[in-house]
Amino acid sequence: MKIAVLPGDGIGTEIVAEAVKVLKALDLQFEMEEAPVGGAAYDAAGHPLPEATLNLAKQADAILFGAVGDWKYDKLDRPLRPEQAILGLRKHLGLFANFRPAICYEQLTHASSLKPELVAGLDILIIRELTGDIYFGQPRGRRVATDGHFPGAEEAFDTMRYSRPEIERIARVAFEAARKRHKRVTSVDKANVLETFQLWKDVVTEVHKDYPDIELDHMYVDNAAMQLVKEPKRFDVVVTGNMFGDILSDEASMLTGSIGMLPSASLNDKKQGLYEPSHGSAPDIAGKGVANPLATILSAAMMLRFSLNQPEAADRIEAAVKKVLAQGLRTPDIYSESTTKVGTREMGEAVVKALG
Ligand code: IPM
Ligand code: MG
Repeated sequence: MKIAVLPGDGIGTEIVAEAVKVLKALDLQFEMEEAPVGGAAYDAAGHPLPEATLNLAKQADAILFGAVGDWKYDKLDRPLRPEQAILGLRKHLGLFANFRPAICYEQLTHASSLKPELVAGLDILIIRELTGDIYFGQPRGRRVATDGHFPGAEEAFDTMRYSRPEIERIARVAFEAARKRHKRVTSVDKANVLETFQLWKDVVTEVHKDYPDIELDHMYVDNAAMQLVKEPKRFDVVVTGNMFGDILSDEASMLTGSIGMLPSASLNDKKQGLYEPSHGSAPDIAGKGVANPLATILSAAMMLRFSLNQPEAADRIEAAVKKVLAQGLRTPDIYSESTTKVGTREMGEAVVKALG
């Protein structure tokens, strides 16, 4: 088993280092190989996703990814920006199914900006389609408008599109996932306005016929954004497109207290996967040793479960994270009175110790 370790930029290097410590402490047989990605790779090799890094990722059974991006690269041409690394990996490896669980740990109900009773026991799984939609749709670009409200003016455009098979396969992923949970799927669309999402809704409804044991409901994305903060516990599995999933998963993360707690998995049809925290590179706190490594450590647990067939090891990591939270250890993002504030490294080391 081979793991490609791609720490990236900003806090990426700090948090991935802690997840690697945890993986090593498990005493399992796998090889880990590190490569630069994002801005770090641009600095080292002139490209955010160098050939060597992409090849390593393709050969690996799983990829442990930190985060990419820093303001200092914002002026580069788009193909050279750090974000292209993660988009390129998703595209080249066909990582179409993105799992973003939002779980509110008992000890963190007070860290959420919502009332504790709304989030206590929360356990939602957002399944975001990750290789289609307006993120990848062609054509896109800038030009001079020939019609519209201001003919002759500069304009920019992107294309929202989904094909039937793309929707079918992500719908199946969602229904299968729901079978292992509370058997409810909410499909989020904007079928009242967009053709793309009318097809989405039609196809999800058709695929649902193969899963009569699963309850399906449809919700417009604006309403879903509202319901997530009004009554978040009404959701079990949420399935949606690439852009809506990007937005709703950030929103859902806040229900849990901190985006610093949210892991994610992005899988292709061979169960090869990329595992990364749902948060970004946070350049404002990079290098200060204060970033929360738990999202990355929990991503490593998802990696063991989904791609490396080591469910017991995954359970051990998740139990260890619960234990350190019960011990009252908190990075600044989840700190509250009468808990113990710790840094990135102390948190990682505490998880290693708690593995038992
Ligand atoms: C995410 C991020 C990425 C996305 C960016 C960094 C390209 O926000 O993984 O949610 O928009 O998908
Ligand atoms: Mg995002």
